[in-house]
Amino acid sequence: MKKTLLMMIVMLGCVLTACTEASRPVAITPAPLSYEQGRGFYEWNTPTTVSLTDEGMDADIIQTAFETAGLPVQLEGKAAGGKKGVRLERVRELPGVAATEEAYRLEVTSSGVTVQACTDAGFFYAIQTLAQLADMENGKVQAAVVTDAPRFAYRGIMLDVSRHFRSKDFVMKQMDLMAAYKMNRLHLHLTDAAGWRLQIDRYPRLTQLAAWRPQETWKDWWEKNGRQYCEQESPEASGGFYTKEDVREMLEYARRRCITIIPEIEMPSHSEEVLTAYPELSCTHEPYKQSDFCVGNEKTFEFLENVLTEVMELFPSKYIHIGGDEAGKASWKTCPLCLQRMKKEGLKDVDELQSYLIRRIEKFLNANGRDLLGWDEILEGGLAPNATVMSWRGVEGGLKAIRSGHHAIMSPGGYCYLDSYQDAPFSQPEAIGGYLPLERVYSYEPVPDSMTVEEARLLLGVQANLWTEYIPTAEHAEYMLYPRAIAVAEVGWTQPENKSWPSFRQRVLTQVLPQMQAKGYHPFDYSQEIGNRPEAQQPIEHLAVGKKVKFLAPNWKNYPANGEETLTDGLRGGWNYSDGRWMAFITDKRVDAIVDLEEETAVHSIGADFMQICGPGVFFPKKVIISVSTDGENYTQLAEIDHEVVKDDVVSFKNFGWTGEAKARYIHYQSFPEEKYGGVHFVDEIVVE
Ligand code: ACM
Repeated sequence: MKKTLLMMIVMLGCVLTACTEASRPVAITPAPLSYEQGRGFYEWNTPTTVSLTDEGMDADIIQTAFETAGLPVQLEGKAAGGKKGVRLERVRELPGVAATEEAYRLEVTSSGVTVQACTDAGFFYAIQTLAQLADMENGKVQAAVVTDAPRFAYRGIMLDVSRHFRSKDFVMKQMDLMAAYKMNRLHLHLTDAAGWRLQIDRYPRLTQLAAWRPQETWKDWWEKNGRQYCEQESPEASGGFYTKEDVREMLEYARRRCITIIPEIEMPSHSEEVLTAYPELSCTHEPYKQSDFCVGNEKTFEFLENVLTEVMELFPSKYIHIGGDEAGKASWKTCPLCLQRMKKEGLKDVDELQSYLIRRIEKFLNANGRDLLGWDEILEGGLAPNATVMSWRGVEGGLKAIRSGHHAIMSPGGYCYLDSYQDAPFSQPEAIGGYLPLERVYSYEPVPDSMTVEEARLLLGVQANLWTEYIPTAEHAEYMLYPRAIAVAEVGWTQPENKSWPSFRQRVLTQVLPQMQAKGYHPFDYSQEIGNRPEAQQPIEHLAVGKKVKFLAPNWKNYPANGEETLTDGLRGGWNYSDGRWMAFITDKRVDAIVDLEEETAVHSIGADFMQICGPGVFFPKKVIISVSTDGENYTQLAEIDHEVVKDDVVSFKNFGWTGEAKARYIHYQSFPEEKYGGVHFVDEIVVE
């Protein structure tokens, strides 16, 4: 007994020593494949010697890796092998790691640091992990063995630099953070109606006119004075573009951080700026009238191929993103050249006409050794033979592409659109709508349940998108990106069994955010999060829960919510009308539904909440009528509630209800829209008490 006690004291002593020595808990973001804490520390001398043991290593990348990591070093060649320091060893394989492309093994002991990797990217990421083991205030690096490899090869961020132009310095600053968290694809949305952002020598009007507008913010430009462009020299000109020299600088910056920049040139739509600078490329040849290129006109192909030629000369990326989303296709239906093209090529509709353009552009890219990447609309009318799909309208597009043997990248709006609100809308700057808190982003699982292991091999990875309509400044862009983009980094890197929301949350609060702030970034202060709408946090009990609802006017299938049960499932809606709890109605009379309580019941209140968010056309009703019946034939009106619908910039909620005394089996609830705004009604629950 005494001996055991003594042993325990000795053991406890060891544990305590280890704890005091390990002055802070070590946790790596994104969470690695495997981590074993060692005993003691490596003392980081300033500067520590790094020996490159292989002539083939790219010293620029290695040097940059240490800079990004904030670790001062002195690089040395092969000869320095024996000294205490960091030793980088190129290996052919790593035990326990199947895909070695970006993998590494990092071993820190009190006598030195050894990194094994098969590629420069592997070294780069090992060094980022090393940074997270280091406490440079005390010059100590935690002893540990880390074996690590990414779950997905593609871990991306998209920046929309069209809606609000951002400087090359801003872009490079974001690459520092991407690299530190092992993200490797930066997709630049370079062209859109709000501004063309890339120097193209052959078409100077793209940057003399289409890159500038009289309004600084997208919102003013969109709402005031008809979305005009102006000459670069004009005194009110706001906007900008990247020169080829700027791009070369960004590309070299990216290369040293193992990041590929993927340029996006939008076609056939989102192209108002091009079609104002070069109106002959639209169906009607009028500036300011069209958003879609004319697909019947050979000049369109000449233009696109010339632009893409200059793009390919600049960007080494294998993928060239050609947009492809949200084409209106209306002008094609009456354009003689488009109709002629459809007839000649045997295309049965405008979807096939779009597909004709995408296929032709793909051929051109492939002939130049590049691959085509596009938003999921490129599936419409038939997918080009070698195309990769970026799935944004949910994951169905990605799934469909994969099931026909193509690659896909997942970027669904409900998890990856960082322009959505990250906290209670009333506490946030105006956003595009939707509620996408950090926890939901983190919860994203890119491989849908229905996908087989074989299919999942074609899923390249994930991407967070930052559309910037409502994001006019650099600080605001960082605020929307972080910390949510770091959740996407972990979704892309970490195996699902190693993911943990409590651990990630803790790392964000104690490490990721403080470090980011210290480096001069402007993330959302997640420690101040308010969270979801209080009404949505717990299921509620009331008389109509589980009761059948008959819809006299159908709900809008674009937002199926929780199906027919939504209005009586006991679940109230949150900040986001896409959260599966808000049911949408868009018919003439919006909500027109009868709840059957199954037996005559004494009721004293009936009401439902509506959401208003005017940007996407979600309005409160102008009128609600509530009636009841005991036989299902003769109804008594209990309330007629009038409401003045007022347009505003905020997300708001309002209950439309009745209180009193009545007997009812059937409850008829109707809402009526304000004619002048139209729009959709979103209702969460018909609550009966
Ligand atoms: C998109 O959000 N239109 C790709």
